[in-house]
Amino acid sequence: MPKTVGIGITGGIAAYKIADLVSRLKKDERDIDVIVVMTEGAARFITPLTMKTLSGREVLTDIWAPSQEWKVQHIGIAEQLDLLVIAPATANFIAKIACGIGDDLLSTIVLANTAPLLVVPAMNTNMYRNAIVQENIKKLVNTGINVMEPATGVLACGASGEGRLPEVESIYEQITTMLFPRTELLGKRVLVNAGTTCEDIDPVRFISNRGTGKMGYAIAEEAASRGADVILVSGRTHLAPPPGVKVISVWGAEEMCNAMLKYQPACDIIIGAAAVGDFTVARAAQQKIKKTGNGDQTLVLELVGTPDILKTLGARKQPGQIMVGFAAETENLLENALHKLAAKNLDVIVANDITMEGAGFAIDTNIVTIIDRNGEITALPKMTKRDVATAIIDKIAALL
Ligand code: C5P
Repeated sequence: MPKTVGIGITGGIAAYKIADLVSRLKKDERDIDVIVVMTEGAARFITPLTMKTLSGREVLTDIWAPSQEWKVQHIGIAEQLDLLVIAPATANFIAKIACGIGDDLLSTIVLANTAPLLVVPAMNTNMYRNAIVQENIKKLVNTGINVMEPATGVLACGASGEGRLPEVESIYEQITTMLFPRTELLGKRVLVNAGTTCEDIDPVRFISNRGTGKMGYAIAEEAASRGADVILVSGRTHLAPPPGVKVISVWGAEEMCNAMLKYQPACDIIIGAAAVGDFTVARAAQQKIKKTGNGDQTLVLELVGTPDILKTLGARKQPGQIMVGFAAETENLLENALHKLAAKNLDVIVANDITMEGAGFAIDTNIVTIIDRNGEITALPKMTKRDVATAIIDKIAALL
């Protein structure tokens, strides 16, 4: 039985990349039928003829076009879909979805659609960061719509920042995962921590680190997409909660540790992706510490260690429980990672050399080596954190 995916293209320069996406989907051996719907703006960036040739089907652009069948066009199309994708999704089109506006063929199809919806934003960084655009995206996510994070890099307008269409390959992966969901983790409970911890100095100031939560959130999302029940204990991050994942928000390392200990006994798989601070302030001030001098004042803080969360959980590991940790290193990668694997009683450690370009904090890519308890070492090339998450979950599924 072929699956039918609707590809809605809206008017952004990244529209041209969707030709590649459609071609990729048509080459998939699993028989995917692609219906391309384009807004008027999209048809100015790439011709419907190109999309028609690649999809092997008439491209739909006009809400007033006479329908072949007796059914109203947008309703008839929506009923055929197993998945609807909007890529690239402009700020304007995202706003339309958020407000329930149906003023062209594609937006009416979105309203009539009951299949899962995947939205892939692509726009200028300032537009993407615009508070109203962000509010709209949040609204989509809270409604259960899947919204992909844009990539960061050089934009068509010449600026550099977040807002790029993710790589076609990642969109393709996301589409095929949604069309043909994998279920290896069905019935499994997965506990992930992510984000960064914060330690208060006083009621307004705190100590934190460069962690963004991208890696852990991608892992939680990937585990959920394979059927797991996922609990995500999250420190500070600006990321939206992944769909279908239960998020427990925490602030400091101790609070994170307590939350992890609470859920550990009920979970089959535990993944420690949080950037846990190793030190906390010995005595946080109850009131805001006053500035007294003219910039010549000094302030001495006494720091004390925080609990090593994974080590604490590792000591209480139950038979059959799988534990995964990370090792972000600047030297002696394998040696340090193997040491941590043993010291924290882990089954898998994901090591990365954060000095390498394309690896580490606050970027979309990572370069990791996955080492399991049997000593099997898999060095992966530079890839998106989403793809690293796929590789980590593949490894866990193989160990189960
Ligand atoms: O020892 P190191 O901090 O390099 O180990 C990194 C791994 O240990 C990560 O998986 C991190 O989430 C976890 N960790 C922890 N508690 C800490 C420090 C690190 O669980 N206090």
